[in-house]
Amino acid sequence: MGFLASLCFLCYLSVFIFPSPSFSSTLLFQGFNWESSSKGGWYNSLNNIIPDLVHAKVTHVWLPPPSQSASPQGYLPGRLYDLNASKYGTQDELKSLIAALHNNGIKAVADIVINHRTADKQDERGIWCIFEGGTPDSRLDWGPSFICSDDTEYSDGKGNPDSGEPYSAAPDIDHLNPQVQNELSEWMRWLKTEIGFDGWRFDFVKGYAPKITKLYMDQTSPDFAVGEKWDSLSPGPDGKPDPNQDGHREALANWVRDSGDTVTAFDFTTKGILQAAVQGELWRLKDPNGKPPGFIGIKPESAVTFIDNHDTGSTQKLWPFPSDKVIQGYAYILTHPGTPSIFYDHFVEWGLKEELIKLSAIRTRNGIGERSTVNIMASDGDLYVAGIDGKIIMKIGPNTNLGNLIPSDYELATSGMQYAVWEKKK
Ligand SMILES: *[C@@H]1O[C@H](CO)[C@@H](O)[C@H](O)[C@H]1NC(C)=O
Repeated sequence: MGFLASLCFLCYLSVFIFPSPSFSSTLLFQGFNWESSSKGGWYNSLNNIIPDLVHAKVTHVWLPPPSQSASPQGYLPGRLYDLNASKYGTQDELKSLIAALHNNGIKAVADIVINHRTADKQDERGIWCIFEGGTPDSRLDWGPSFICSDDTEYSDGKGNPDSGEPYSAAPDIDHLNPQVQNELSEWMRWLKTEIGFDGWRFDFVKGYAPKITKLYMDQTSPDFAVGEKWDSLSPGPDGKPDPNQDGHREALANWVRDSGDTVTAFDFTTKGILQAAVQGELWRLKDPNGKPPGFIGIKPESAVTFIDNHDTGSTQKLWPFPSDKVIQGYAYILTHPGTPSIFYDHFVEWGLKEELIKLSAIRTRNGIGERSTVNIMASDGDLYVAGIDGKIIMKIGPNTNLGNLIPSDYELATSGMQYAVWEKKK
């Protein structure tokens, strides 16, 4: 073998000998909350936390909806190509933020709000049904034929019946219309090529059929994508969540499958069960098969776990995690399979940064990834203990009497309020 050939051979071998980033280690960060649009210059200010995101081993940052919108937070978008009218900053500021993230090895995820769209103008009858794209040409300039025919609030819709659930605050867009499909795909590809986005967070995916998500996935090939399919947990007789949420997590699995299986879904099942469990009911964290009871227990490679977001937490608090138990929630999701995510508020505003950085470091240095295996060792009301991949053991809950659950070849790696993680000694 010549020198070069042996060098290549060594490189080739090293891929197998050193399994560096071959395990999937995606870590999502939600880079805004419900108030960020009112802070002024949000994109610019996010530049300041990039070094901390690098320390936390964040791989993807989810940014707010980028387009002009009737509401400041961006969830009632209108002129989709107009990124200068965003309350988070200008198109150039967004581009420099994404470039700075890329320079630090972090990818950018756009919040894609396409179920509905606010009209720019009224027609001659005074009905708000004239859309403008925000470009000098006629891209995304639409009228009543692009609104679903059964849209009850905007009754002038002349399109197909809605393929998903209705949305009341803005006209529901007819995604069965090929022009809608083509022009929205083109806009998303523009977000990639012109603005620099790498992936998508699909807002309110219940608003249109899963085959529509599949279509936009196929048309735009994102590096990473996650859908917000938010269903309520089924209640038990006592008003708390029923211990069995199999129907809830199977609905997530079915949505992922019907959307083409390349998109992931936020694990609302795990969030709901976990936030009930940390209130003295940690027995909830083991299903009858001995596995995690959330979406991560059946299809972890498609599950994005989270504690709170701009809706469930922040100032809206629509379904908040108990605030004094949030770090226990992170001790669970950052050691368990699935793709974990960290919320801006917890990382920056709640002072949990150092603890989250430690938990994330334990995850990556032990190669814990989306498909890691969980061995549940205790799940009582006041104590949950689990081993992951035979490499780490974690506990949450107020009970500090662990008996001899932790083998002597494990050492404490980090601990805090009612949680601890041990690593196997090397
Ligand atoms: C937004 O501003 C940028 C930079 O000035 C410009 O290139 C772009 O065309 C503007 N977009 C719109 C929709 O006005």
